[in-house]
Formats: sequence, C-alpha cells, structure tokens
Amino acid sequence: MSDATQFAIGAADGILVEQLCGMSNRHGLIAGATGTGKTVTLQILAESFSRLGVPVFTADIKGDLSGLGSPGASHPKIDERLLKIPLETFLQRPYPVVFWDIFGEHGHPIRSTISELGPLLLSNLLGLNDTQSGILYSCFKIADDQGLLLLDLKDLRAMLTWIGDNANELRTEYGNISSVSIGTIQRQLLVLEEQGAEHLLGEPAVKLADLMQIDFSGNGVISVFDATKLTARAPKVYCAFLLWLLSELFEELPEIGDPDKPRLVFFFDEAHLLFDHAPKILIDKIEQVVRLIRSKGVGIFFITQSPLDIPEGILGQLGLKIQHALRAFTPKDMKVIKSAAQSFPPNPSFDTEKVITDLGIGEALVSVLDEKGRPRPVQRTLIRPPESRIGPLGELDRRDRIERSPLKGRYDTVVDRESAYEKLRDRAEVKQARQEKADTRKPKEKPESAVVGRRQSTGEAFIKSAARAIGSQVGRQIIRGIMGSIFGGRQ
Ligand SMILES: Nc1ncnc2c1ncn2[C@@H]1O[C@H](COP(=O)(O)OP(=O)(O)OP(=O)(O)O)[C@@H](O)[C@H]1O
Ligand SMILES: [Mg+2]
Repeated sequence: MSDATQFAIGAADGILVEQLCGMSNRHGLIAGATGTGKTVTLQILAESFSRLGVPVFTADIKGDLSGLGSPGASHPKIDERLLKIPLETFLQRPYPVVFWDIFGEHGHPIRSTISELGPLLLSNLLGLNDTQSGILYSCFKIADDQGLLLLDLKDLRAMLTWIGDNANELRTEYGNISSVSIGTIQRQLLVLEEQGAEHLLGEPAVKLADLMQIDFSGNGVISVFDATKLTARAPKVYCAFLLWLLSELFEELPEIGDPDKPRLVFFFDEAHLLFDHAPKILIDKIEQVVRLIRSKGVGIFFITQSPLDIPEGILGQLGLKIQHALRAFTPKDMKVIKSAAQSFPPNPSFDTEKVITDLGIGEALVSVLDEKGRPRPVQRTLIRPPESRIGPLGELDRRDRIERSPLKGRYDTVVDRESAYEKLRDRAEVKQARQEKADTRKPKEKPESAVVGRRQSTGEAFIKSAARAIGSQVGRQIIRGIMGSIFGGRQ
C-alpha cells in the first residue's frame, strides 16, 4: 500500500495528469464510443486504487476486466506509450481479484434476499404499476407483521398466494388487495425467474466486508462482478442488484466526511442501463444516494458511451471526468459532442469540441478536481497502460483463481432456511389436519365459517407471539427491507 496523495491517470504533453486521492469520493465518469479505451481506463483506475489500499468493486460486462488478475505483457505499443508518460514506477504485475457471478459460473455466486432488495427496487424490476406496487408494499408489511421472512422467490410467491387467499380478512388493516393485481405480480415474478433472478435471490447473501478486503501486502482487493450473461439476459436485474449494493453500502457504512482516500470505489459499467426507462422516483433515489454516499467514503464511477446517458442531477455531481473519443456521424452525435465539450472547463490551448472527435484510442479529455474541489481545465491526456493484462483471463486461469480464493466455500451452496414459504406451508398443513380432525368429530351444529374463523384467529395469535419470541432480529431484518434501505422507503 502506498501513502501517496495522488496517482497518475496519464500524461498531457509529457506532464503527468494526476487524480487527488482525497477527491476520489467525488465520483467520476468515463465516457466514449466503443473501442476508444473506456475499459482500459477503468482498469488503470482500479489498479491505482488497489495500490493505495482501497478495495474496488467493478462490474465486468465483457469479461475483459478479468485480466486484472494476471500480469500485463510487454508490447511495442505499450513501450511507446510508456515513453510519453513519466511514471515513477511501472511494474507488470497481477492485482488481487475476487470473481463474482450471480450464476456462479465465472465467480462466486453473489446473492441478496427479497427483503433486502426491498419493494421499490422489486417493483421496478417487475415493471409494476402504482396499484400493483402498493400491493407489493403491503405484502412486505404483512410478512413483517406476521414474522415471516421473505428471502427467495418462492417465499414471495407463497406470501402473495396467502395474501390473495386471505384478502377479505386483511382488507381492514391493509386495504384492498385485488386478486387481479396479485395475478399480475405472480406472472411478472415468473418472467423474472426465467431471466435467472432466482440465482440472485436467496441466502447466503453477500457480506459487504467480503467486498471490502485488503490483501496481505496492503493492496485493495478488486471484486470483479462478471455480468456478461446477466446484462444480456436481464439488464434490469443487473441494475437492481448494483443499486441494492449501493444502498447497502450507504446504510451500513458510518459517516466519515471527506477522507484522505476513499474506503471503497465502485465502477458501474453500462450505466445507461440504469437510467433507460427508469421511473423518476428511482432516478431521484439514485441521485440521492450518489450525493449522500460521498460522506461514507465511497466513490462511484459511471462508465457509458455518452455523457448524456446520465441524468443531469447526477452528471453534475461527478468530479473526475474522462471523455474518450466520440464519433460525429449524425446531427444527434454533434449535439452530444457539443454538450460533452461544454461540460469541461475550457483549456485555452485547444478547442475541446474539436479534440473530442480527434482523440486516439487510449487517449482522453480529462478534468480532475483540485484540492479545493474545483474542476481543473481539461487536458488532452494519453492514458497510462495498465500493469495487469489487457483483455480477459483464460478460462483455466480464472478457474484457478476461483479455486484458490479465500472466499471459497462461503457462498457456493444455497442455504434454504425456514422462511415464509416453509412457514405458510406448515400453517396450511396444520390447518388441514385440524380440519380433518374436526370433520371426523362431526360438529354438525356449528357453521363451518365460525370454526374456520376461530381457528384462524388462534393461528394469528400464535404466529404473532412466535414472531415476538423469535425476537426483534427477524422483525428488524424484514423492516429494513421496507423502511430502512433507501430504495425500500415508502413512496
Ligand atoms: N490506456 C491504454 N493503454 C494501452 N492500450 C490501450 C489503452 N486504452 C486502450 N487501449 C487499447 O485499445 C483497446 C480497446 O480499448 P477498450 O477495450 O478499453 O475500449 P472500450 O471503450 O472499453 O470499448 P467497448 O465500448 O467496446 O467496451 C484495448 O484492447 C487496448 O489494446
Ligand atoms: Mg469496454
């Protein structure tokens, strides 16, 4: 680990362009057309943070960031680049990586639970309208009141079925619950399941501490989240998961103000997926998290093709701006280029707008914040080469890293503990057994509904006292899903 206060991104006219460590919780943007060098820029930033002892979490959309785990190779083009960038040290070496993959194929499985995801993200994921979302919120609340844990998809499904079956009894306390809406939610859950969401939802849920590790040499561990399959199959699940992770960080980490260096840096690739078709309420929440997470010492870097993919309220909060080349084919392209150029503080020595279309691969317009947090004039920067390998790790190498990972065994097997599904199933069985017993005693004189009514209320009382007995632990966990998490807050 180094105690440097800044690190080099590259050089402009042979002079280093450096990012202040203390400004790295002010977030950043890496933009540019395909093939212009965005991923390699992400890679050199991740390496720099790792060297500083800052753990990194990065999405890996094409699998090419896995190369971080392997040393770079010499190449005449790299040597040529190095000659133009007066780096203090350059050492081809592997960086400490941990691979994650919700499908468990290219890394450790990474999961969250339904209750942790919370109703807002889930509503968005399921594409629910207001009425349907209202029912989903009630579902969380009812599960909470009943002491039933919502961990995986089958818990949620069982809970919804139960609510549908008991809609009449629940109406006074929770409002109208239409069976049509429940049907829609159930169908959407099936769609979600087909996209592979059941891999994401369940236990053991990932522990933040496992994403915030430092290795024995003091280097920050880089968590590489393989999203190749996920972004192709279920981009919304990808976004929901990363947003959940951000909200967890926000919830769990204490306030530290502006630290010397960030506590964690988070790279959000294909950031446009996050904002395309997102409802305003979600965008507002994201904006809020971005604003507030800074004082928790977390830096967020968005990677996308055009800066216009990012809503203004968020774009305005991004301190480090790295703009790779943009192409000018259509009038719309011209508009993008113009506004991208205008977002940089001008440099008297060149015309920003013109340079954007001129930049070579691995070259970018860079504006960093000075020690007072003011954006410095834009610089035409040759980005440094990475010390680790450019491009993906071979499949065997990757397997080897996963096998030797210190986290091996911790997340590999799903644990299906007793939760809403099992409890509701048991309840139904008890009810049926009692029913059968009652039928054999033939209490003919009593109307059936009265019997059912009385039994249910005893059942409720039992469940409520059981929930109390289990203690606040369970309750709190569910409540957090509804109220605590910033994305779970009521609308
Ligand atoms: N800083 C750099 N140093 C050395 N080579 C670089 C650098 N940046 C980019 N390159 C070269 O350019 C190639 C393309 O870069 P990169 O994969 O980062 O583009 P990209 O913008 O992420 O593309 P896409 O949008 O398709 O993902 C790299 O494989 C590498 O060969
Ligand atoms: Mg890329």
